[in-house]
Amino acid sequence: MPADQRGDQRGDQRGAQSPGQLHRRSAARTAVVWEALREVLDGRDAAGTSGAGPSALVVDVGGGTGGFAVRVAELGHRVVVVDPSPDALAILARRAEESGVTGITARQGDLASLPGLVPAGEVDVVLCHGVLEIVEDPAAALAVLAQVLRPGGTLSLLVNQRHAAVVARAMAGHFGQARALLDAPATKPGTPGTDPTGPRRFTADEITAVLDDAGFDLRTMHAVRVFADLVPSSLVDLEPGAAQALVDLEHAVSARPEYLPLATQLHTLATRR
Ligand SMILES: C[S@@+](CC[C@H](N)C(=O)[O-])C[C@H]1O[C@@H](n2cnc3c(N)ncnc32)[C@H](O)[C@@H]1O
Repeated sequence: MPADQRGDQRGDQRGAQSPGQLHRRSAARTAVVWEALREVLDGRDAAGTSGAGPSALVVDVGGGTGGFAVRVAELGHRVVVVDPSPDALAILARRAEESGVTGITARQGDLASLPGLVPAGEVDVVLCHGVLEIVEDPAAALAVLAQVLRPGGTLSLLVNQRHAAVVARAMAGHFGQARALLDAPATKPGTPGTDPTGPRRFTADEITAVLDDAGFDLRTMHAVRVFADLVPSSLVDLEPGAAQALVDLEHAVSARPEYLPLATQLHTLATRR
């Protein structure tokens, strides 16, 4: 998968990394999202409206290799992963088997095909992480997600945030790309691999507006990966306690609005009206 599709790997050390290093880096990148999602899945989120219940029906659209799906299933929920990539679904199956979880169903398909793959209006929670950037029409995609969710159900949406990418391009000396990204409309995706602006990126205001238009009430928005992509791996790996301190720092800034424009990604929880 192109690095661009995972958000910007700002300042990352791309050399070979040990499994321990990869785990620490991954933990710093996903901790904020997982914590917010976990509260919903445990039915203890602040709004208390998710009502995920003990055995919720969770759909992970574009769930890929199942990094989140397996963890959700481990909590006892039923998870349907929908993804167009047979390779990703094969890795998901292997990962689920290794974890010993049951309750994951894999369906090959894309976001548009969702209504034919899951029961419309009955899904408790939809995860849409890293997908809105690459679909043809984000507004139409969100309308499909609203269609499959039950009223009061929760959408967990993770998207690339534009301003951090502009800064990252400029810091790397790619001033033309930074300028192009600055003005790139969220409605028009670049073509990964050929277009320097890569996949679509959103601002916090754009996400707020597009969710409202699609019939969602925004509950929380978190800044994700504010520092994790900037800090050299060597610092995190060599300094005792640094990895956990980084995770703690990511948590500390995640709910502060002033850090949203500095985040590689934005994570939103929204309720289907
Ligand atoms: C950036 S990855 C994100 C994977 C996973 N959700 C995560 O957060 O780690 C994007 C995923 O979306 C899938 N995908 C691409 N086009 C899609 C579409 N139109 N509908 C649904 N999934 C799509 C890809 O196969 C890939 O697994």
